[in-house]
Amino acid sequence: MSGLTAWQYLIELGHAEPNPFQPGPHRPVPLRGQRVLVNGAAGGVGHLAVQLAKWQGAHVIAVASGTHEALLRTLGADEFIDYTKTPAEDVVQDVDLVLDTLSGPTTGRFLRPLRRGGALFPVFLGFADAEEAAQRGITVSMAQVRSSGAQLAALGRLLAAGTVRVIDSTFPLAEARQAHERVARGHIQGKIVLTVA
Ligand SMILES: NC(=O)c1ccc[n+]([C@@H]2O[C@H](COP(=O)([O-])OP(=O)(O)OC[C@H]3O[C@@H](n4cnc5c(N)ncnc54)[C@H](OP(=O)(O)O)[C@@H]3O)[C@@H](O)[C@H]2O)c1
Repeated sequence: MSGLTAWQYLIELGHAEPNPFQPGPHRPVPLRGQRVLVNGAAGGVGHLAVQLAKWQGAHVIAVASGTHEALLRTLGADEFIDYTKTPAEDVVQDVDLVLDTLSGPTTGRFLRPLRRGGALFPVFLGFADAEEAAQRGITVSMAQVRSSGAQLAALGRLLAAGTVRVIDSTFPLAEARQAHERVARGHIQGKIVLTVA
């Protein structure tokens, strides 16, 4: 689901289901050569979004807590901002696209670093600054993820080629409890794999 979410926000929506969040369909924007900021960059959606944006030729600014910097740079982040030390919106500017995987009522703070004509894609609900977005000439758009075999196949090819990586840690199915405990500790770096012998 994380991979499909990142894909449908950034690469191709790929379905014509009604959008519960807005009157029209979500439309991804071109990424090549663009400055793309991913908030929540080490999470399930975020770490895939970083890699897909990089694969598409974007300049990627990753926002996460400091422990994730090395991983995110390995995954292709060109810049890293530790949100526990610096609010990202205070230190970047001229951003073309913000993908905010955290979202909620605070997502409007990302209107400031966006250039006029840029786009803010909140992955979760809560955007409440439509008037300011219109004044700044910024498109705000959301999508609800849908299943897609074709998109999963495309993601599978990127995984097989090593272009995209997803694994935080691997546990045998019998140790599913420990896997849940890993999730509960938080600050996950990607996804957990349960192996079945
Ligand atoms: N629209 C859709 O169809 C759709 C589909 C899938 C998911 N979602 C939603 O998307 C959201 C993200 O899902 P996910 O699976 O990626 O979650 P996740 O794996 O739990 O990742 C969330 C990330 O947020 C980071 N974070 C926490 N506080 C932060 C802050 N103040 N500033 C910046 N980053 C912060 C955490 O990183 P640190 O370790 O750095 O703190 C964590 O890596 C969820 O709300 C989910 O419901 C929507």
